[in-house]
Amino acid sequence: MKNASTTSGPKKVTTKVIAAMKKDGKRIACLTAYDFLTARLLDQAGIDLILVGDSLGMVFQGQETTLPVTLDEMIYHAKTVVRGVDRSMVIVDMPFMSFQASHEEGFRNAGRIMKETGAGGVKFEGGERIADLVHMTVRAGIPVIGQLGLTPQSIHQFGGFTPRGETAAEAKQMLKDAKILEEAGAFSIVLEKVPASLAAKVTKSLTIPTIGIGAGMHCDGQILVVTDMLGLYEDFHPRFVRRYAHLAESIRRSVKEYVKDIQEVKFPTQKESY
Ligand code: KIV
Repeated sequence: MKNASTTSGPKKVTTKVIAAMKKDGKRIACLTAYDFLTARLLDQAGIDLILVGDSLGMVFQGQETTLPVTLDEMIYHAKTVVRGVDRSMVIVDMPFMSFQASHEEGFRNAGRIMKETGAGGVKFEGGERIADLVHMTVRAGIPVIGQLGLTPQSIHQFGGFTPRGETAAEAKQMLKDAKILEEAGAFSIVLEKVPASLAAKVTKSLTIPTIGIGAGMHCDGQILVVTDMLGLYEDFHPRFVRRYAHLAESIRRSVKEYVKDIQEVKFPTQKESY
């Protein structure tokens, strides 16, 4: 057995389990992960869905945006995550320009992710524009999550990381996009940086669950970037991130202690030697 799960939930989270959670009013707990070790810890702690997010471009690679992340990089990280997981469902982000040029290319790339990583599905940013792509991907047996609101791959078009759906026109389009994604076969929709009242409306209008990040308390589930909620990534701290630890500080403190011990010849001791 790979993992000693600490929860008494279902053995493996699937699209069926996620759908049942919405029906039963059970909240869906999600986090991102980019490596084996973190994924194993999240799985052991009872996270329902792990997203190998293209946010890895920023919090793992140190890039300014998610745009430079390649499909090969996503596949590399997804493989390591899948190896750490027993119970959680693993979803992989389709990175920028892996599906924007044509639906055919997006479809093939989604297939590559499924074949090469062992993940349980993919996530596409976008609404109406990608409805046919979502439909053909789902028809091929690939579970799809959609993403609306602040879709970071369009950051240059938006002109910043500000909330989306604040105008009546944007809100109307988001409600329409969400319905279209549901009809195209998406099994869930991520809502990023959306007013809580709009997220509540979208959630109520759908039979599939919404997963919020900066979208208030009425979504069916919540997701955060793992390095944000653990206090490892300190470059910015948006309002919607609750820090459950401050690992950056713990690591700095531990490493300083290690350096001091070496300098003062306190490490290693005889007990730590052969
Ligand atoms: O890339 C990512 O981590 C995401 C989440 C923030 C939803 O898309």
